[in-house]
Amino acid sequence: MTSQTINAAASGTWSLGDLTVNRIGFGAMRLPQTGEALVADAVPRDRAEAIGVLRRAVELGVNHIDTAAFYFSPLRSANELISRALAPYPEDLVIATKVGPSRDASGEWLPHATAGQLRGQVEENLRQLGRDHLDVVNLRVVGTGSIAERFGALAGLREAGLIRHLGISNVTPAHLAEAQAIAPVVCVQNMYGLGVRPEQDAFVRSCGEQGVAFVPFYAIAAGGREAGAGEGDHPEVMTVARAHGATPAQVRIAWTLHRGPHVLPIPGTGKPTHLESNVAAGALRLSEPELALLEALHRR
Ligand SMILES: NC(=O)c1ccc[n+]([C@@H]2O[C@H](COP(=O)([O-])OP(=O)(O)OC[C@H]3O[C@@H](n4cnc5c(N)ncnc54)[C@H](OP(=O)(O)O)[C@@H]3O)[C@@H](O)[C@H]2O)c1
Repeated sequence: MTSQTINAAASGTWSLGDLTVNRIGFGAMRLPQTGEALVADAVPRDRAEAIGVLRRAVELGVNHIDTAAFYFSPLRSANELISRALAPYPEDLVIATKVGPSRDASGEWLPHATAGQLRGQVEENLRQLGRDHLDVVNLRVVGTGSIAERFGALAGLREAGLIRHLGISNVTPAHLAEAQAIAPVVCVQNMYGLGVRPEQDAFVRSCGEQGVAFVPFYAIAAGGREAGAGEGDHPEVMTVARAHGATPAQVRIAWTLHRGPHVLPIPGTGKPTHLESNVAAGALRLSEPELALLEALHRR
């Protein structure tokens, strides 16, 4: 499908609290490096290339960008690139960040933040992005234990005006219920995609029923995770792609959009052509027989 002129608005809109975004967003994790993300010896991406991708994303109507202070390579930081490329920020741009994990200055992972350390992580994002408040902050969780203390700390920062809306990431339905008892939750950001964690289907639906956005990550990279997307795809995906003159990545994004109006994919890329194609996937409408074919693959 021709992609260059398709705007992110083609995917429809969803509201994160009082902030309305086009459903196709952008994940900034791929920008600081080429190749595998989140490794200490990552190869820094060309700065002009990364800035160009961010500016093109906004030109194409993307107004939901996901980032984190821990997205950096030896010479580039996703937050710094976002600030350099996009500040002064467009009025409608929603920047969502994540706290919880962190890496030391050489890129090695540190233990996840305690409740008392979260304020420092929020302030680090504020400094790097050049903002006085953050639009959306996700608490990124590991394990199934209680998040009440940490989410409560973020709720306090929201009350103090440092954060507009809260989300949670890498979580269970029990975490969502626990968080909602403390403060409103506008989004859940979990790994999910075609054939990726079908056991999340009920949680995806339940988020929609509660008016909570579900933001899937690795919708394209799938099992490739931090290393990125592989070559080729399943025959079912190829069949649907051929029928639309689309790419397998576009079919994967479109499939997530068909899971419900509250599903907001944030595909990441460092390539302008991939960005345009990912945004254009918002205009791809899959037929019932195509969805049934992909559903069988998803459940296999
Ligand atoms: N909450 C969490 O725990 C968590 C964890 C991981 C990620 N995230 C967020 O989720 C976002 C999405 O994950 P992701 O960046 O891995 O995105 P993704 O959409 O799953 O996949 C990105 C991979 O697919 C490739 N790709 C992108 N567009 C393509 C296209 N049109 N055709 C072929 N290949 C394509 C990219 O390589 P190229 O650069 O070559 O295009 C990269 O290898 C991240 O950027 C980050 O913001 C959150």
